[in-house]
Amino acid sequence: MEIKSVGFIGGGRITQILIEGMKRSEGLSVPFVVSDTNQSALDALKSRFPDITLHLNDNAAPAMCDLVFLALHPPAIGGVLPNIASFLKPQGIFVSLAPKFTIAKLTQGLNGYSRITRIIPNAPSLIGYGFNPIAFSETLSDSDRQSLISLLAPLGEFPETPENLLEAYAIVTAMGPTYFWFQWSQLKALAMEFGLSEREANVGIYKMLGGALETMFSSGLTEAQMLDLIPLKPIGEEEPAIRGILKSKLTALYEKLKI
Ligand SMILES: NC(=O)c1ccc[n+]([C@@H]2O[C@H](COP(=O)([O-])OP(=O)(O)OC[C@H]3O[C@@H](n4cnc5c(N)ncnc54)[C@H](OP(=O)(O)O)[C@@H]3O)[C@@H](O)[C@H]2O)c1
Repeated sequence: MEIKSVGFIGGGRITQILIEGMKRSEGLSVPFVVSDTNQSALDALKSRFPDITLHLNDNAAPAMCDLVFLALHPPAIGGVLPNIASFLKPQGIFVSLAPKFTIAKLTQGLNGYSRITRIIPNAPSLIGYGFNPIAFSETLSDSDRQSLISLLAPLGEFPETPENLLEAYAIVTAMGPTYFWFQWSQLKALAMEFGLSEREANVGIYKMLGGALETMFSSGLTEAQMLDLIPLKPIGEEEPAIRGILKSKLTALYEKLKI
């Protein structure tokens, strides 16, 4: 199918990221239609993208688009699905960006509508570096899948994955940056306190992270060998506590998403 309009139900952070990323594609001229219950979310979108159509407390307009993104948190989803089901186009595609709600549950909530895709996007989609695992319902043809992927291509990668792995990706690749960004920002602030210019701090941290990742994934060293490469570890004493926090918080969230 040819996608001629794109709707978003929910106009918060991920909607802003995806619109920003898609608008990077020169020649993309599809209209965007967004609804939200929160005026300040719509105001933020309007100031960033003056040409998109916004609807307060009215999810019908985005639901009538060829491609419909559901960009709501799981607790808000159950109440919204039956109210938008009758507006969905028979040949449209419905994309949920949320964890927890499976294609089967979405189909049930949408009174049997099954032209559904699930994507767990991540924030680097903003600049075209997204890693966005995707699972399709069987109802969608190869050509539907191709139309969707080519429209979304400016956002980054869309590896097809079994649906039952999407919650794991939500924890690892969607929320992953939140475990590290604040630490890298703190390191940058300290680097500048220690006398590096902002540019020197940026380049140093960027190169250090790139090299550290390559060492982890390409050196062939075991974890123990890798960790032993640097004997002086200023925050080494805290490592067990940090590992414990990751394990307890992320396991609890994963279990909540899988219920
Ligand atoms: N942000 C990310 O990087 C990311 C990555 C992967 C997946 N996701 C998924 O994307 C979904 C949305 O996340 P987000 O980060 O965009 O959250 P968000 O910034 O909180 O945006 C959600 C928006 O939906 C509004 N809303 C609530 N109920 C609504 C309803 N019935 N109809 C229309 N709008 C409604 C909210 O208003 P209020 O604030 O007033 O409630 C809010 O403005 C979640 O399922 C999340 O897991 C997000």
